[in-house]
Amino acid sequence: MKVAVIGGTGLIGSQVVKNLNAAGHEAVPHSHSTGVDVISGQGLDEAVAGADVVVNLTNSPTFDEASLAFFQTSMDNLLAAAQKGGVGHFVILSIVGADQVPELDYYRAKVLQENVLAAGPIPYSIVRATQFMEFMDAVLSWTADDATVRLPATPIQPIAAKDVANAVAEVAAGAPLGGIRNIAGPEIFPLDELGRITLSRKGDNRTVVTDPTAGMFAVVKGDVLTDKDAHLAPTRYADWLS
Ligand SMILES: NC(=O)c1ccc[n+]([C@@H]2O[C@H](COP(=O)([O-])OP(=O)(O)OC[C@H]3O[C@@H](n4cnc5c(N)ncnc54)[C@H](OP(=O)(O)O)[C@@H]3O)[C@@H](O)[C@H]2O)c1
Repeated sequence: MKVAVIGGTGLIGSQVVKNLNAAGHEAVPHSHSTGVDVISGQGLDEAVAGADVVVNLTNSPTFDEASLAFFQTSMDNLLAAAQKGGVGHFVILSIVGADQVPELDYYRAKVLQENVLAAGPIPYSIVRATQFMEFMDAVLSWTADDATVRLPATPIQPIAAKDVANAVAEVAAGAPLGGIRNIAGPEIFPLDELGRITLSRKGDNRTVVTDPTAGMFAVVKGDVLTDKDAHLAPTRYADWLS
């Protein structure tokens, strides 16, 4: 199967390319660095020509209001190119519970991306993942100073990027879901506790202060999966840290 992986040089995209090729498919990465721009449309027709599947793993350069325009324009351009190229399956990666947090521009942008895909002309699959373990350092940095890190006790079910990539590659190689597959890691932690575990493992002596108003996750009720159909990935946080 020929797969065009747009954003195929990123954290998840590069591993999806590797997984698909290891499974005997023909996956090709595309991004700025290969001369493709999902916003201007440059190189898109060539990138998706002859592909059975398009996997879109691009990300917006900012998480603010501008992310809405990024996902609208990129999806419009990609769907037009995919339709022209006769692509039979279009896959995106979104966020578990994205529709539950309209207060956050970025979450609204991901819901917009999902809606544009679902309303479009190509059979599709949406994989929704919880917070990547790889993103914890960024989460800590948003509300840190020299002595403390402030974090709410929001329940988080982090997932390793390699497990996300496995799930995306598996979905890409299958029949279009026409809906959403939710994936998460195997454990749930309050975010403040996750911060303490992370700092302690790194030998960082700063104190985590529980603050229900701190950072992006203050408005997220929970980045966890409760439904019985959830796909749980194997990697535990302590194993990932080590
Ligand atoms: N962080 C989380 O916890 C989380 C959770 C659930 C879902 N997600 C979703 O996962 C997806 C992938 O995230 P990631 O962390 O793997 O992203 P990433 O590492 O930042 O990679 C983004 C990729 O997109 C490419 N790209 C960006 N703008 C582009 C443009 N205008 N034209 C062409 N290529 C462009 C980049 O290429 P260059 O480097 O060449 O610019 C890179 O290959 C995102 O859509 C995100 O919403 C994230």
